[in-house]
Amino acid sequence: MTAISPLRDFIVEFTRIHASPLPTPALQTKGASLLEKLISRDDWLPEEFARPSPERYSQYLLHCDPLERFSIVSFVWGPGQKTPLHDHRVWGLIGMLRGRESETQFVRDTDGHFHATKTRFLGPGEVSILTPDVNDYHLVANAFDDQTSISIHVYGANIGGVARATYDPDTGQEKAFISGYSNEEIPNLWDRSRERKAA
Ligand SMILES: [Fe+2]
Repeated sequence: MTAISPLRDFIVEFTRIHASPLPTPALQTKGASLLEKLISRDDWLPEEFARPSPERYSQYLLHCDPLERFSIVSFVWGPGQKTPLHDHRVWGLIGMLRGRESETQFVRDTDGHFHATKTRFLGPGEVSILTPDVNDYHLVANAFDDQTSISIHVYGANIGGVARATYDPDTGQEKAFISGYSNEEIPNLWDRSRERKAA
């Protein structure tokens, strides 16, 4: 085993789930339990994908399925950082690895206005599920103003390339965005020679 192998095991198992087509709810349930296992330990995320930026939160791509059926990112919050109100338009799983984040969910009226419905806190080891048409609108923040928080997200597409939107919660005004990623390179999951040396 190497430090990165829990992430590789997650990717292999999640890819395997896709071998037998499942309805999205079943995929989310199975994926959530795999994600719980991945975040039950905090010793595998390479430091370069855990680094906060002083300007804004970072979204590092850890893996994208070659068919873009899903992607995995580390979401790194500097102290006090938060997102605007935004949507996703694909299913998502959020697993807290380190620190703590707050999530405020919103519903949108037929006239386009938003109303906050609930705020919940996510701590290490906990997983939250996002589903389009159910709970697709939220605002997320680092619950700490003096330390970094990190969550691991899985989305039902190449999330960095999905056209979606942020919103002004007071006016409902929509602004299109495509998030992209904070990194140019992704982790090397595949150097098995190190495992042989360790064996
Ligand atoms: Fe989000």
